[in-house]
Amino acid sequence: MNSSSLSGSFGLDTSMLPKHVAIIMDGNGRWAEKRLMNRIKGHEAGSEAVRTTVRTCREIGISVLTLYAFSTENWQRPKIEITALMTLLKKFLDSEKKEMMENNIRLNAIGQIEKLPENVRKALKKTMDLTQSNKGMLLNLALSYGGRSEIVDMVKIISAKAKDGKIDPDLITDEFVADHLYTAGMPDPDLLIRTSGEMRISNFLLWQIAYSEIFITDTLWPDFGKEELVKIILDFQNRERRFGNVG
Ligand code: FPP
Repeated sequence: MNSSSLSGSFGLDTSMLPKHVAIIMDGNGRWAEKRLMNRIKGHEAGSEAVRTTVRTCREIGISVLTLYAFSTENWQRPKIEITALMTLLKKFLDSEKKEMMENNIRLNAIGQIEKLPENVRKALKKTMDLTQSNKGMLLNLALSYGGRSEIVDMVKIISAKAKDGKIDPDLITDEFVADHLYTAGMPDPDLLIRTSGEMRISNFLLWQIAYSEIFITDTLWPDFGKEELVKIILDFQNRERRFGNVG
């Protein structure tokens, strides 16, 4: 099958795939509440949806998948919920190592990683080191991530370089800024998906989504599956992206 033919099992045009898909995984709490369950059960079910989504993106041929797993604001949640999320994250990192190696997936993390508990940082480093040469897909977990903090960090780095005379401020371009964000070297997301129907960006990839196509689904994250992801990518393939130009 050549690169421009339809990929049989998904009906997608493989020549028009989004390179980078970013997802705001929302609705775990509501999913659990609807079932009269503890919110943590919703996060557990959400972890399963993470596994399915990673697998599906790899099968489809997505190059970069960024998942908003924990925001800078999520530290304000009850301690018991934070601990549960960190435990689930560690479990995911430990249990998915094998599959990431088998499927040629590289793991990366963006955010204020130093704020994560030590056992999670260690598990992250271990899996990132193990998978560092994998080229099939980059799985980028946004952890203790905030778009504003990322921009503040970028300004600090660039202004320190300017102060030391290492750069000429006149040479600061869009590309230069992008190269000083946590996502340096990655393409901007072509497609941003948010589950649970909320019409918000919630401090996610503020710079990088300037021209992303946005898709909001009412589905709660634990119910998000392969079929819906494929449908959203089909919708993406039918959109006209103009990047501020005329059609
Ligand atoms: C939003 O739902 C979801 C989160 C804050 C965390 C996302 C975490 C997971 C999907 C599971 C663990 C992650 C990995 C990578 C294994 P919410 O709690 O805000 O839901 P609500 O808006 O319905 O309350």
